[in-house]
Amino acid sequence: MKQKLFDKFAELFGNSDGARFYFSPGRVNLIGEHTDYNGGHVFPCALTMGTYGAARKRDDRKMHFYSMNLDRFGVVEASLDDLTNKKEYNWANYPLGVVWAFAERGLHLDSGFDMVIWGNIPNGAGLSSSASLEVLTGVILTDLFGITDLSMVDLALIGQYSENNFNGCNCGIMDQFTVAMGKKNNAIFLDTNTMKYEYAPIELDDAKIVITNSKVKHSLVDSAYNDRRQECTDALAALKTKLDISALGDLTPDEFEANKDIITDPVQLKRAKHAVYENQRTIDAVAALKAGDITKFGQLMNQSHISLRDDYEVSCEEIDILVDLAWAIPGVIGSRITGGGFGGCTVSIVKNDAVDTFIESIGKAYKEKVGHEAEFYTVDIGDGASRLD
Ligand code: GLA
Repeated sequence: MKQKLFDKFAELFGNSDGARFYFSPGRVNLIGEHTDYNGGHVFPCALTMGTYGAARKRDDRKMHFYSMNLDRFGVVEASLDDLTNKKEYNWANYPLGVVWAFAERGLHLDSGFDMVIWGNIPNGAGLSSSASLEVLTGVILTDLFGITDLSMVDLALIGQYSENNFNGCNCGIMDQFTVAMGKKNNAIFLDTNTMKYEYAPIELDDAKIVITNSKVKHSLVDSAYNDRRQECTDALAALKTKLDISALGDLTPDEFEANKDIITDPVQLKRAKHAVYENQRTIDAVAALKAGDITKFGQLMNQSHISLRDDYEVSCEEIDILVDLAWAIPGVIGSRITGGGFGGCTVSIVKNDAVDTFIESIGKAYKEKVGHEAEFYTVDIGDGASRLD
């Protein structure tokens, strides 16, 4: 990979002398969906799929961004003197947003840089290609410019800040945190209320994590996401008129049931219910995993899907087809939608001896029902972003 990236770098920028090599993963969330902006728990892991980057400082104030995946956009040029989101920058608004977010924190770069990337995370599939790119850029900037006082958690927060304020998606912290803090063969149990986290080994001796890409992405993903977030904010505001809480994640399901009548809007009620119960499911799922009860873990994944489908309403027909097909296969421990929703991917835990059947039978049935192929990735859990050379 490095050679391919450095050859391109040399072709575009004269040579690759002194360029440095970086990697930043994608992520998959096992359980704890749409809880991260509700002060709840999440349980994601970083993937070995991700975004590779080659980068080098320049002598002037220009920044050049080139994606080998999106070569039709050519070299995107921006200037340190104009850190604004521009439509024509397209994907490069993500790395540029991170440069902007550094500047917002008073970290002004003393020169521009050139950056070439190539990634193997399918774009827009809910596996955090954008968070991967944001954290990659954060790692590149700290390394190239010798910024030593930012931790990996800071880089996650900067990535989220840039996505919220430069690129217009009001996302929570889960994706950037996972990409920055990922650890090989471990998932991260993160309490987004306190930002306390612990690593939990994922030792699936006789099973694999299989991601299925529906290859659909319904429009309005960002606006529907922001709507869900607003509905939760409104439900919390209603509950706060009677309860002393700071987030929906502060409530146990019992406390929620005892107080839910305060929320008069039926849509807000459903959203809040999901946030509260999903938080509890995530806590229970990690406890089940620690106790070696993978069957329970799978059942909680399935319940998570039902709640995301019926109460949070972020699934769609194609994803429900994939999950229903998965549930019908013996050897599937659990299966659910993963990520923001409205298309994208499902995550399933599948017994080793059922993986081939899973891929063949779901692949065939999905094609028949939906009209196009799904894609399957049997994934490994990898480390967070870093410089590689
Ligand atoms: C997207 C967001 C995350 C999180 C998930 C849903 O991936 O970026 O912050 O809210 O959706 O769990």
